[in-house]
Amino acid sequence: MNTNELRTVWWENANVCLIDQLRLPHEQVTVRCQTVDEVARAIKTMQVRGAPAIGCTAAYGMALAARNSVATTVEALIEELYQAKATLDAQRPTAVNLMWATKRMLQKAITSSNEPELLRQRLLDEAHAILHEDLDMCHAIGEYGAPLIPERGNVLTHCNAGGLATAGYGTALAPIRTAHSQGRTIHVHVDETRPFLQGARLTAWELREAGIPQTLITDNMAGFMMSRGNVDCIIVGADRIVANGDVANKIGTYSLAVLAQYHKIPFYVAAPFSTVDLSLASGDLIPIEERSPDEVTHIGGRLVAPEHVVAAHPAFDVTPNDLITAIITEQGVIRPPFDQGLFGLGRRDG
Ligand code: MRU
Repeated sequence: MNTNELRTVWWENANVCLIDQLRLPHEQVTVRCQTVDEVARAIKTMQVRGAPAIGCTAAYGMALAARNSVATTVEALIEELYQAKATLDAQRPTAVNLMWATKRMLQKAITSSNEPELLRQRLLDEAHAILHEDLDMCHAIGEYGAPLIPERGNVLTHCNAGGLATAGYGTALAPIRTAHSQGRTIHVHVDETRPFLQGARLTAWELREAGIPQTLITDNMAGFMMSRGNVDCIIVGADRIVANGDVANKIGTYSLAVLAQYHKIPFYVAAPFSTVDLSLASGDLIPIEERSPDEVTHIGGRLVAPEHVVAAHPAFDVTPNDLITAIITEQGVIRPPFDQGLFGLGRRDG
């Protein structure tokens, strides 16, 4: 498979289809969701994950809700769409792309048509549009981000902000892919990303498929790699960027940013405008998802800690804006002070 053409989510025979990210890297299996509840479960269990990817999936979930509805009036159909939005939004609280996408779909429904069948088609068209826009934005992030990678080309990344986390191509991996396709020397240090291992399972798989040289490291090796001069820059994705430029991303991102500052290594965040939430002033207001401690005490379903031990599992952390060198968006590179640049981003969510 050519992962430049990797499809994370797609619509097929009135099903929302996903590549099952829990089965990678060992198996490539398609999940077919026939109901909104099945889409919600796929988001909750992280069969699909990554902020833009769950936004695209939720958009198709809304189209599916409309398609499955037997409502004969637009008013009744919209009422069901409100319920579908509430169900989908409740699955994961931190990645704002989820609520952004369901809100955009609902607004499309409200402003669209007074004929239910036409409305169903318009919603499917809108979900396709969200998917295609995301793919275009990822490619633009690649174009803007590639020149930021220093000449020696040693990049460190965390979690998976690649094609699997988006409609395709990725956010943090986009500058890496673009630089690689330009023939530049690129090598990626991939944090394994405990506890869910998105780096080891997904990023390492994507980079291998793309033929991009990499070294997988455990998260606690990152500082040592930096101290040895093995890291020229860090690029991560984001689940939510708020008005002052604070960034929520996978747990462990904040530690990397602190290490980067100490070692004077540029720390970049790559994300499209659908990840920006200007309604929140600062990062302390971002809801942080708490996941099951079982994901900490177990690896691959196997208990690795004493039975009944208490474990914590905040799934995200917040990196304060003063640790961030620049934010790479599809509209250009934003540098501090971030509030001005973020407010200038053209928002298309109505
Ligand atoms: O819990 P996950 O795997 O959904 O978390 C994903 C991340 O934190 C990514 O870095 C982020 O969503 C950016 S994806 C382009």
